[in-house]
Amino acid sequence: MENSPVPLLGVLISGRGSNLRALIGAVREGRLRARIRVVISNRTDAAGLAFAREAGIETLVMSHRDSPTLEAYDDVLAAALTDRGVTLVCLAGFMRVLGPGFCGAFPDAILNIHPSLLPAFPGLHPQRQALEAGAKVSGATVHLVTAAVDAGPIVLQESVPIHEGDTEASLAARILEVEHRIYSEAVQRVLDRGRRAVLR
Ligand code: GRF
Repeated sequence: MENSPVPLLGVLISGRGSNLRALIGAVREGRLRARIRVVISNRTDAAGLAFAREAGIETLVMSHRDSPTLEAYDDVLAAALTDRGVTLVCLAGFMRVLGPGFCGAFPDAILNIHPSLLPAFPGLHPQRQALEAGAKVSGATVHLVTAAVDAGPIVLQESVPIHEGDTEASLAARILEVEHRIYSEAVQRVLDRGRRAVLR
């Protein structure tokens, strides 16, 4: 296992990777005092892998299809991270649900970002859910991950207005701008304060 003077992060992605890119930028600019040790995707075609490679960050593709059970997948994923000395895991558009085995390997040390003001609109298509509910505000939330989906104590959240005529795409773009700003801030808070980061 590696020893490092700076905290080592593992970022898990499944697709576009714009939040990963924002985290890489925050590290580069010194707003996030950590090193992204590894980026893991469950899909070979995740576009975000390119951001990691350009930044010289190790990438791994680990598909759940290569593991006999979801529990086994949890274990190999957790081992890949702990072997590299990762102490904080950032889910950034990672589209697999992680089970108790994985969560237990990183107690209070897994973060996720979700494009709504949780606990409102958890799960899939949160922007569509917000529009369909006629909500006047939505936003982005960074929270600690527990075995329940999109639950877990909230570290940071910020609202955005919903305008008349908004589409899923226009609302998603407005929320994404906020996501890119608050994720690195939330990660730094957790690195500084641990679980106390969820308390005001
Ligand atoms: C983001 O909206 C994030 O909140 C959600 O999935 C999306 C991932 O986007 N969990 P990206 O891959 O970071 O661009």
